[in-house]
Amino acid sequence: MARDDEETLSDEKLGPTGRPWPTLPPVRPPRSGSKHGLIIAMCNQKGGVGKTTTTINLGAALAETGRRVLLVDFDPQGSASVGLGVNPHTLERTIYNLLLSRTIDPVDVIVTTSVEGMDILPANIDLSAAELQLVSEVAREQTLKRVLDRLRGDYDMILIDCAPSLGLLTVNALTAADKVITPLECEFFALRGIALLTDTVNKVKDRLNPDLEMLGILGTMFDARTLHSREVLDRVVQAFGETVFHTVIRRTVKFPETTVAGEPITTYAPSSSGADQYRMLAREVLARCPDA
Ligand SMILES: Nc1ncnc2c1ncn2[C@@H]1O[C@H](COP(=O)(O)OP(=O)(O)OP(=O)(O)O)[C@@H](O)[C@H]1O
Ligand SMILES: [Mg+2]
Repeated sequence: MARDDEETLSDEKLGPTGRPWPTLPPVRPPRSGSKHGLIIAMCNQKGGVGKTTTTINLGAALAETGRRVLLVDFDPQGSASVGLGVNPHTLERTIYNLLLSRTIDPVDVIVTTSVEGMDILPANIDLSAAELQLVSEVAREQTLKRVLDRLRGDYDMILIDCAPSLGLLTVNALTAADKVITPLECEFFALRGIALLTDTVNKVKDRLNPDLEMLGILGTMFDARTLHSREVLDRVVQAFGETVFHTVIRRTVKFPETTVAGEPITTYAPSSSGADQYRMLAREVLARCPDA
């Protein structure tokens, strides 16, 4: 009997990734004094894995800690903008204009969101033209970095929502970023294409951005009831070990609902488990980024 209890207890201490839960430090307030926005790119060329959902909700959870957060919608689909209630198709200026003109002030493009302390640089379909237009530019890979370097002093964290591609836009995001988070859907073929992504990150690191680091892999759309979801997560942990965040985002219809509502889950359903999972992710991110 006692033995059973012990087993249950130790089982409970195992997180969804099958590893024991770490003791995370309590959330620190943001550093006082001058800001130097830490830039994190959400990147996976596979579509529909939770990049946008993670950008919005991790951003909102970090803003709850008192940090100033800027989201960069870097996908011509404009999903991060729409997900925060911004209609990007009616905007005169978006991130696209900042990429192509050095004379526009980023402050004129930034939109405040309903989340206190969180702003967004919106995008719309115009951005799809940038991919071609940038090809002929000098230092075409550094264009986003040039834009964000002007904004770093105003924010603690800058999160870039990448498009599902490894093209020039994503290379720009990786060149501007300090860290990469890769959301992985806990589904069949989740690992397919990850070698290509890792290869791209390594090439950017070698040639353009030596300080770039993989911050973590995030399991998303996890369904604890299916053996399959757990098997996928086991394989991800086998392949990537401690790079995998202990936090896992479960599948729930609340996330699609938040897109319709145009707000993050932390305000749409503040006491939901989805909101708590993104708050826990924020704690893990801060624990892995001691200077943020
Ligand atoms: N944990 C979750 N549970 C259920 N649905 C989710 C979850 N996370 C995201 N979704 C939904 O899955 C869809 C894809 O998510 P999301 O847009 O975040 O992925 P993405 O990687 O940004 O996609 P794309 O590659 O098209 O940009 C959306 O409808 C979103 O609401
Ligand atoms: Mg997206």
